[in-house]
Amino acid sequence: MGVTIVAGGFWGDEGKGKVVAYLATQDNPSHVVRAGVGPNAGHTIHFQGRKWVLRQVPSGFVNAQSRLLIGAGVLLDPRVVQQEVSELGLSDRLGIDGQCTVIEEEHIQQDRSSEHLAKKVGTTGTGCGPANEARVRRQARLARDLPELKPYLADVPLELHRALKAVHDVLIEGTQGFGLSLYHGSYPFVTSKDTTASAFCMDVGIGPTRVNQVIVVFKAYVSRVGEGPLSMPLSPEEVRARGWEEFGAVTGRPRRIGEFDLELARRAVMINGATQVAVTCLDKRFPECYGATRREQLSPVAEGFLAKIEGELELPVTFISTGPELAQMIDRR
Ligand code: GTP
Ligand code: IMP
Ligand code: MG
Repeated sequence: MGVTIVAGGFWGDEGKGKVVAYLATQDNPSHVVRAGVGPNAGHTIHFQGRKWVLRQVPSGFVNAQSRLLIGAGVLLDPRVVQQEVSELGLSDRLGIDGQCTVIEEEHIQQDRSSEHLAKKVGTTGTGCGPANEARVRRQARLARDLPELKPYLADVPLELHRALKAVHDVLIEGTQGFGLSLYHGSYPFVTSKDTTASAFCMDVGIGPTRVNQVIVVFKAYVSRVGEGPLSMPLSPEEVRARGWEEFGAVTGRPRRIGEFDLELARRAVMINGATQVAVTCLDKRFPECYGATRREQLSPVAEGFLAKIEGELELPVTFISTGPELAQMIDRR
């Protein structure tokens, strides 16, 4: 396995949290590292009968053997971090890079009171854009400046380097999705950073030559929160009739829903350098597939859908998620 990156292929909320948690339990990586923008992302994990929504701590917490790290490129809201650490009882398993940018209350206020950010872009209101602005101005405080974070501070690139030298496996957890990339996405309706595999390498301090696998995750349809274009949108009535309604994990806003976008998927695969693809929520599109764990349990029409994706993207669909629980997965690596 070596280094594996999990990235979103559409507009975020593709189910990266579940895919990362699944891989963490199956492959036993020594380290699971969170990359991406920051607490604007919510990763949902259904595990042992409980639902978790994590905004800062890596979804790899489900494996008690894995060390959990947050890379320097990730924005840190110390309030959210403390809450997740105490909820999960992590204390000695979490390492935070001292160079992470701190989100201040003031950044959250700016994000929520700006007409442009809150209304036009439709941000999550978590202060991420203003905090990244402060970092670029070189006026932001960093994790190393906060006494309450001292117990967690870690040299993330060095820890990863040592793990790889010892031939351990490292899992990098991306956030958001390809279409939200500041550079490659639907500007200005995007987040405040790139959201592709290259950015995730930079976030955690790993060079591109060290990466072995890039898994790009797609939902079996498209969902989007916030403003900006959505190709092939479905009407609210159509969405309800199909049972595809969704609400944001962080903001609770309804997600807009559209048909599977092959053109966007092709571009996501190209720019991420994907080596394989995961498809989630197959059960929402094909309810007869709910909970399947073997390929033979899929219906011919679901098989046809996956075959079309594989043909068009010229990549294998190695993970097929058939329900929110970790075990509801077909693993065909
Ligand atoms: P971001 O980093 O915020 O983009 O999040 P994410 O990619 O981790 O996804 P998020 O958890 O926000 O949204 C995915 C939703 O789909 C969650 O509610 C998951 O529990 C759910 N989910 C994931 N996989 C499946 C699946 O195969 N079937 C069903 N029914 N739900 C799923
Ligand atoms: P911001 O990242 O909060 O500045 O929001 C910018 C845009 O990205 C808005 O459209 C948000 O809805 C969207 N966005 C940011 N993070 C996520 C995410 O994790 N999932 C889905 N959409 C996101
Ligand atoms: Mg989410």
